[in-house]
Parts: sequence; structure tokens; C-alpha cells
Amino acid sequence: MQPLVDKINKQRLPKHIAIIMDGNGRWAEEKGEDRLFGHFHGVESVRNIVEGCAELGIQYLTLYAFSTENWDRPQQEVDGLMTLLVDTIRKEVPELNKNNIKLHVIGNTSMLPELARNELNEAIDLLKNNTGLNLIMALSYSSRWELINAVQAIAKDVEMGNLNPNSINNTVFEKYLTTANFPDPELMIRTSGEFRISNFLLYQLAYSELYFTNTCWPDFRKNNLYEAIIEYQGRERRFGKTSKQIHDNIVLNSTSHP
Ligand code: IPE
Ligand code: IPE
Ligand code: MG
Repeated sequence: MQPLVDKINKQRLPKHIAIIMDGNGRWAEEKGEDRLFGHFHGVESVRNIVEGCAELGIQYLTLYAFSTENWDRPQQEVDGLMTLLVDTIRKEVPELNKNNIKLHVIGNTSMLPELARNELNEAIDLLKNNTGLNLIMALSYSSRWELINAVQAIAKDVEMGNLNPNSINNTVFEKYLTTANFPDPELMIRTSGEFRISNFLLYQLAYSELYFTNTCWPDFRKNNLYEAIIEYQGRERRFGKTSKQIHDNIVLNSTSHP
């Protein structure tokens, strides 16, 4: 049988894939284990999917690892997740470096424990000259936090006379977001059978293709990623236009650039 990865059209890869890595807790509870057991195994999926994206030549991968709202979970789970974060960065940095991966973090990192912040900053610094996959970790991130932050920064710039309110358009606004240097995700994946966005990239996902799977994050592997990309490639992205307009444009482009 043809391997799934061969069914992917390498000329039409999404530049940016965003993933809500959900279902760790339920995966563990189903096995009669503590929720942290699920988070622990979720790290294996992170490793596998980061590697899979790097192999394919995906340019940006954003992983929603911890939301602003997740701070309200039981203290023991939050502490366990923070410890896991520090351990994982420490362990994974050499492999990330070997795979030419550059690390970025989006979110309210001032809320993270100092140890985690230091570990992240060291890793970002160490990987900063890499030119392959951009791995963007959303940590203590929520879209409403990001949008409010952007509005505050814009208001300050207007107040100081550095920004004319009439000049604010999409391009200007996007510069105030934590994702200023990244293109919008073409594909957003959520695992574990939940059909919601949970405060993730609300602005950036405006025209993303959404893919939902029942697989819980700790079971999600490269083949699941390939399935999502294949489904994405079978969809028609219209951006408000008609199907005919999109089709005519493809034909026009293919004849003008032989
Ligand atoms: C996702 O898995 C990881 C984090 C939110 C940190 P969950 O912990 O949300 O697992 P479920 O959804 O409760 O199963
Ligand atoms: C979203 O998952 C956040 C992350 C995966 C980090 P949640 O499990 O926190 O979302 P809800 O509560 O089901 O909406
Ligand atoms: Mg969840």
C-alpha cells in the first residue's frame, strides 16, 4: 500500500499549521491514570509531530500548549505541567538544534515561573540562527489577552502621536499581535473530538481550514498529521469569492506561468 505521506502534494503544503493539542487528561483517565500521565505522553506526540513537520518542510508550526484559562486548573496539575515544560525544553533542545528548528513563544510569559522563563529564553537564544521549521509554542496564551494587549499598545502609540488612527488597517494591526512575524495558519487541527477554538488565534484563524479529529493528543502521530494535510489539500479555499473565480484564477496562473 502507498504510504500516506506520498499522497501529500509537496507543492501545496500549508506554510503554517496550528494545533490545539487536546485530550491528554481524558486519555490518561481512560487508562485509570493521573491526568499528568497524559501530559507526559503528550510530549512524545509533540516530538513526533515537530519532526514530521520538519521532514515535510512546513515553515511554521504553532502548538497550543497552555492557555490563560488553564491557570485555573488544580494547582497540582499546573505545577506538574510547568515542571514538564522545563524538563522537556532541557531534553529536547539538542534534537531541535540538530533538526535546524527555531523556537518562538507567544503568550503572557510573565505569568510563567521564573525557571520556565529562563529555560525558554536560553533555548530561544540557542536556536535563534536556525533556518528550518519555526516552532511557535503558545504558552499562557489566549487570543483575548493578545487582542486587548494589541489595543492597549495601539492606544498608547496614538496618544504619543506615533500612530494616526486613520492609518490603522489589517497590516498595521497585525504588527501589534504576538504573531506579527508569522503568516496566518492555513490549517488548524484540534484533537480529542472537541469542536471549539478555546480562545486560540481568533484573529489569525479567520480563513484557516479547520480539522477536527477524535484522536486524543497522546495518540496523535505523523500519519494523523498527514491525514489532516491530505484533507486540507482536498478543500477549496474561496476567501469569500465564488468557486468559478477561484478555478479561473488557477487556470490563468497555470497558463501565464508555464
Ligand atoms: C490538553 O489536554 C493539554 C492542556 C490543556 C494543558 P487536556 O489537559 O485539556 O485534556 P482533557 O481535554 O481534559 O482530556
Ligand atoms: C485548549 O484546551 C487549550 C490547550 C490545548 C492548551 P482546553 O482543554 O483548555 O479547552 P476547553 O476547556 O476544553 O475549551
Ligand atoms: Mg482539554
